[in-house]
Amino acid sequence: MSTEFSRGLEGVIAAESALTYIDGQKGILAYVGIPIEELAEHSTFEETAFLLLHRRLPTRAELQKFQEELASQRPLHTHVMNVLKALPHQASPMALLRTAISVLGHFDPTPDDVSSTALREKAIKLISQMATLTAAIGRLRKDQEPIAPDPTLSHSANFLYMLTGKKPDAAAARVFDVALILQADHEFPASTFASLVVASTLSDVYSVISAALGALKGPLHGGASEQVIKMILEIGDPARAEQYIQEKLARHERIMGFGHRVYKTYDPRARILKRYSHQLAQQAHDARLFEIEQIVEKTVIDALGAKGIFPNVDFYSGTVCYYLGIEPALLTPIFAVSRIAGWMAHMIEYLSDNRLFRPTTRYVGPPLGHYIPIDQR
Ligand code: SDX
Repeated sequence: MSTEFSRGLEGVIAAESALTYIDGQKGILAYVGIPIEELAEHSTFEETAFLLLHRRLPTRAELQKFQEELASQRPLHTHVMNVLKALPHQASPMALLRTAISVLGHFDPTPDDVSSTALREKAIKLISQMATLTAAIGRLRKDQEPIAPDPTLSHSANFLYMLTGKKPDAAAARVFDVALILQADHEFPASTFASLVVASTLSDVYSVISAALGALKGPLHGGASEQVIKMILEIGDPARAEQYIQEKLARHERIMGFGHRVYKTYDPRARILKRYSHQLAQQAHDARLFEIEQIVEKTVIDALGAKGIFPNVDFYSGTVCYYLGIEPALLTPIFAVSRIAGWMAHMIEYLSDNRLFRPTTRYVGPPLGHYIPIDQR
């Protein structure tokens, strides 16, 4: 029984997993042994989701069947859409998503079935409906009618179609698909760990994913990406970037999109997203945002690189989505559109050898004493 105490469980091994490998010193990330760079180059989000759920790559026939199952699960239950429409459209998109996932559970005939067979089926439904829900939230925020999914499109192309009303070109769909691959899993971040604490009690999958969404919403975790793009847009002019960052650092403020509990070098996902951000900036003939990002990156690394603070996945994801026409408020929900695959994979894996999470505390309160009657206090 370990008596070690580590704030925020830093460095504590909370479980064994065969899903994701991270080397924070070397900047290595791999899903089931496959480097993220190779998945970003050769795979798709659907194939990567299958890889995580089954811990192996699919055959062509299996992938075809998986894609068909995902497409069939895209449409939302009428009542779920009606509840979403009844909620304040300008509420936090992550809070709306968290509510909608809970509502989904009321229309699942077997919500409490946590067998691996049931969870794999629920995973397909949740992967599909997280995308449909996020697109609907994005439309309703603009007082636009949600758009029904198109089963003939890929998962990523369909998301962009449901959000914008226009079928994306192959290049835009591919960039978005790679962004989903990059964010699909990451071992035990706060959201995954929170979800597994709930899963370890054998609670239902909707409670598990609601817990994950609640944790991801925080600005120290998934909420950072929205803060990054808002900062880049607020800087507005490359000539202002260095001084803007120097002033924030002088005020000891954290720069969103930088630093990581595990990576003490460049986040490998950020390297890939940086290339896409540059590519999209050139295609848009709008190099301004990318130039600002470069100056921010150099200024922060010059100041904090020695402390192991480098860009993380959230630094470039914002501009990639911005260039794809996605508003900043949807960035964290889009993180969930991807990470639902990892959350479900970890739930299935952990429950295959479940142990209730119940850490302890080092007691630092008063010594044992006695109750004091109120008139003697
Ligand atoms: C994600 O865990 C995951 O895997 C998450 C994620 C995933 O895929 O699920 O990778 C996704 O959440 C990425 C992280 C997104 N969050 C941000 O970009 C928010 C800004 N980053 C930080 O708040 C911070 O880096 C954390 C929270 C991400 C990690 O912080 P730690 O490990 O708790 O480190 P710390 O807060 O103890 O900081 C150590 C030192 C401190 O300085 P000192 O007090 O020692 O002088 O580094 C400084 C911090 O002030 N520091 C920063 C900084 N991050 C850390 N200083 C300025 N800017 C920053 N961003």
